[in-house]
Amino acid sequence: MDITLSVIKADVGGYVGHSSCHPDVIQKARESLEGAKEGGLLVDYHVTACGDDVQLIMAHQKGENSEQIHKLAWDTFVECTNVARSLKLHGAGQDLLADAFSGNVKGMGPGVAEMQFTEREAETIVIFMADKTASGAWNLPLYKIFADPFNTIGLVIASNMHSGFTFEIHDLKEHQKISLSSPEEIYDMLVFIGAPGRYAIKAVYHKDTGEIAAVSSTEKLSLIAGRYVGKDDPVCIVRSQGKFPAVGEILEPFASPHIVQGWMRGSHHGPLMPVAVRDSNPCRFDGPPRVIAAGFQLANGKLVGPRDLFDDPAFDEARHQANTMADFLRRMGPFEPHRLPLEEMEYTTMPEVAKKLASRFQPI
Ligand code: F6R
Ligand code: MG
Ligand code: MG
Repeated sequence: MDITLSVIKADVGGYVGHSSCHPDVIQKARESLEGAKEGGLLVDYHVTACGDDVQLIMAHQKGENSEQIHKLAWDTFVECTNVARSLKLHGAGQDLLADAFSGNVKGMGPGVAEMQFTEREAETIVIFMADKTASGAWNLPLYKIFADPFNTIGLVIASNMHSGFTFEIHDLKEHQKISLSSPEEIYDMLVFIGAPGRYAIKAVYHKDTGEIAAVSSTEKLSLIAGRYVGKDDPVCIVRSQGKFPAVGEILEPFASPHIVQGWMRGSHHGPLMPVAVRDSNPCRFDGPPRVIAAGFQLANGKLVGPRDLFDDPAFDEARHQANTMADFLRRMGPFEPHRLPLEEMEYTTMPEVAKKLASRFQPI
C-alpha cells in the first residue's frame, strides 16, 4: 500500500509566553483532523505538541505536496489561531506568514516534512519534533544515524544497510541542493553539514534501493519573512528497522546532547534536551531547546501509537548532561559563544545602537 506521511507544524500562539500550547488549541486541531478522517481525506492522524508548536501528523494517500492536505493543515492552523486569539495567547498566529492559502504551505510559515513510500510488512516510524531551535538541528543526529558506525552498528554488521545511504543537502541561503553518498563522500559532506546554520540535511535515501529513509523540515522562518518571526522548531521523519537503522540506533545520538541554535529569543546556543512529551515545555530561559520522539507502527496507513520514545530513564543522564551544559553556557550571559554570532541572531539592536554611537567612533 502506498502511503504518505505528512508532518506539518506551526506555532499559532503560546501558553504561557512561548512555553507551551493551550489544550483548547490542540483540541481544535484534533477536531479538524477528525473531520478530515471522517471525510476520507486522511487515513489517520495524530495531533501533539512540542513546546509552543502544534504538530499535525497525517497519514494519507494524496502524495507529497498535495494541495488538499496542505490546505487542511493551513485551515486547521487558522482555526487554532482563532482559538488562540480568543484566549489572548501570546503571539497568536505567529507562524502564519501569509494572509491566504495559495496551494502549498511551504514558504507560508509552517514547517513541513513529508515522505511517500510503500508500506512494508512492518513499517516502523520515528518522528522527531523540536522546540526552540533551528532547522539545521538534525544534521548531527542524522549524520550519526545514517553514516557513523560508532552510532549505528548496522552499517557494519547488517548486510541490508552495509552499502550506506545517500544524503540530500540543501543550501538554505542559495536555494540549491546536492546529493552526497556515504561512506565514500563523508569528508566532503561534513564540510557542508557541519555548518547547520546554512546547510541542512533535507532527506536521506537507502543507497541500494533508493528508498526514502528520512526527511526533515528545512523552512527557515527568518529567511521566509526577512525578519525575526520565531525559531523554525523543525521536525524529522525517520523510517526504522530492517534495511533502515533500528529504533535504538535512531535514538542513540540524543544520548549525548549536542549544541544547537535557538533558545532565548532565538539568539543563543544551547543543548538539545531529549524529553518525554509531557516535559517538552521549555521554561528555563525559554529553554533549553527540546526534542521529543513519537514512535509508530503503520498498519495500512493507521498510526498505531505513539510510543513516547524519550520517556525512558535511559535518557536521564542525557537530560542531566543537557542541564549541566545549560548551566555552563548560561554563565556567559550575553557573550558569544552562548550568544549567537552577530549575523545569526534573531533579535538584535545592533543597527540602532551602532547608528546612535556612530559619531563617537574614532580612528584607532
Ligand atoms: C525563542 C522564543 C522566545 C521568545 C522570547 C521573547 O524561539 O520563542 O524565547 O523569543 O520569549 O518573545 P516576544 O518577543 O514574543 O516577547
Ligand atoms: Mg512561540
Ligand atoms: Mg516553538
